[in-house]
Amino acid sequence: MERNILITGASRGLGFFFVQKYLEDGDTVFAGVRNLQSPGIVKLKEAYPKFLIPVELEVRSTKSVDKAVELVKSYTDRLDIIVNNAAVHSESSFEVLEKADIDECLDVYDINGLGPIRVAKAFVDFVRKSPQGKIINISSESGSLTTCKREKEFDYCMSKAALNMGTKLLANYLKKDNILVLSVHPGWMRTDMGGKHAHLDPYKTACKLVELFDSMCDVNDPIFIDNTGKEYPW
Ligand SMILES: NC(=O)c1ccc[n+]([C@@H]2O[C@H](COP(=O)([O-])OP(=O)(O)OC[C@H]3O[C@@H](n4cnc5c(N)ncnc54)[C@H](OP(=O)(O)O)[C@@H]3O)[C@@H](O)[C@H]2O)c1
Repeated sequence: MERNILITGASRGLGFFFVQKYLEDGDTVFAGVRNLQSPGIVKLKEAYPKFLIPVELEVRSTKSVDKAVELVKSYTDRLDIIVNNAAVHSESSFEVLEKADIDECLDVYDINGLGPIRVAKAFVDFVRKSPQGKIINISSESGSLTTCKREKEFDYCMSKAALNMGTKLLANYLKKDNILVLSVHPGWMRTDMGGKHAHLDPYKTACKLVELFDSMCDVNDPIFIDNTGKEYPW
């Protein structure tokens, strides 16, 4: 069966490589971007004119998400996988407590924590139409309370902890519909967010994760996992 995949934050980094990988696999990809002219997506569209559908999608805005629903609806009523990948770090993320701009954290909580829930709410009926629907939230080890040794990044770490709770709530709610909901730590990747010293290649990570998502279908399995599928402590 040809699958329909929605990916947020598809303009660059891991999200972009998810788009590329799913297209290479023959799937139809709705690529959520804030800027439809994002160069990588424009180029991929030339290579996959039928299977790549760029969708304007700002995950902070319910209006934008609802508009994206209308566009996707004009192509299909079924999504097999949603990858909630879009995320940010704030300007002062790496400042210590005394210097951190706490008000900046709100935007990050909205984008990283609520964005995936906003997208899940808007598209859940599309996922219910799939024989094995999946909602994948790209989280981070930085959202783990158990393993946390950091002393800062109040914006990012707290947003990913909130996302993990959101994943758990969604997973509990959607179990009866046989929809798999995961929080996945992708590893430290060389992207704009991860920086050039990170040890993982984002394309290889996307390939590994796509394979991992395809291998997972039991809604009773652990839902906070690393990029090998191993359970990660909450
Ligand atoms: N990189 C790492 O080492 C690492 C480690 C652990 C977890 N992660 C997670 O992996 C995911 C991908 O990270 P990455 O490294 O690929 O990040 P990235 O290179 O910074 O890319 C972030 C993506 O999110 C999009 N985005 C940001 N704010 C958005 C919004 N409000 N609405 C819609 N899209 C928005 C960006 O779009 P624009 O181009 O429009 O800004 C961009 O496409 C994130 O969830 C991140 O938290 C990354």
